[in-house]
Amino acid sequence: MEWQRWADTNVPIVTQWDDGHHTGLAHGELATSSSSMPSAVFAMFRDLSVVEGARVLEIGTGTGWCAGLLSARLGDRNVVSVEVDETVAETARKALAAAGWHPEVVTGDGLLIPGCVYTYGRSPRGKQTMWLFGLTDLSWAVAFFNEDDPARSNVYQGGPRSLWDELEAAHRWWSERGRPGHEEFGLTVTADGRQEIWLREPSTLVPRAVPVR
Ligand SMILES: C[S@@+](CC[C@H](N)C(=O)[O-])C[C@H]1O[C@@H](n2cnc3c(N)ncnc32)[C@H](O)[C@@H]1O
Repeated sequence: MEWQRWADTNVPIVTQWDDGHHTGLAHGELATSSSSMPSAVFAMFRDLSVVEGARVLEIGTGTGWCAGLLSARLGDRNVVSVEVDETVAETARKALAAAGWHPEVVTGDGLLIPGCVYTYGRSPRGKQTMWLFGLTDLSWAVAFFNEDDPARSNVYQGGPRSLWDELEAAHRWWSERGRPGHEEFGLTVTADGRQEIWLREPSTLVPRAVPVR
């Protein structure tokens, strides 16, 4: 009941500190996952126009609360949520299933390039690998890194998009602007629901997709 009372209260609730390395009841250094403040979530959903028939891609599953709300509104087959932290993603999957919802919860970085998630791992031969998956088509790319000699790393890609080329173009765009941190970016949502992401000032818009050279 105490949990329910907090969940219904209009405050953000930190659910993870320091990428899960912190234990105990005291504050950690950095809040790395939280249940968002309900009024902020509902305002976001209003701006998003969550209407019948829509499919929603959520970046940052956290507790899974938003994914649960979206599932109740749209049906869980119309909701995909991406969470970068594997433990947080697994906890959310279990919590959602316990509530009767099964939206697709993908473990990956949802902000890398639009409509694409990635995962890291090691190949059977021990090489560090990175997989990229397109969320709306069957595009894919995989990089096998050679940690001793990066020039001998291999990349393969397939499908309608060239995801690795898009990744390189996005990285070049970011490097050419002095490798800005996340705190240098902003978002404007206009009254008609248009969204513009900008760098340092609202007039310097971030392109939706960086042209691949
Ligand atoms: C404020 S919480 C999300 C709240 C959540 N939507 C809810 O229903 O309560 C933000 C979450 O985004 C995750 N996150 C941060 N950067 C991310 C990224 N680039 N891709 C995917 N998830 C990310 C964090 O691990 C954290 O769990």
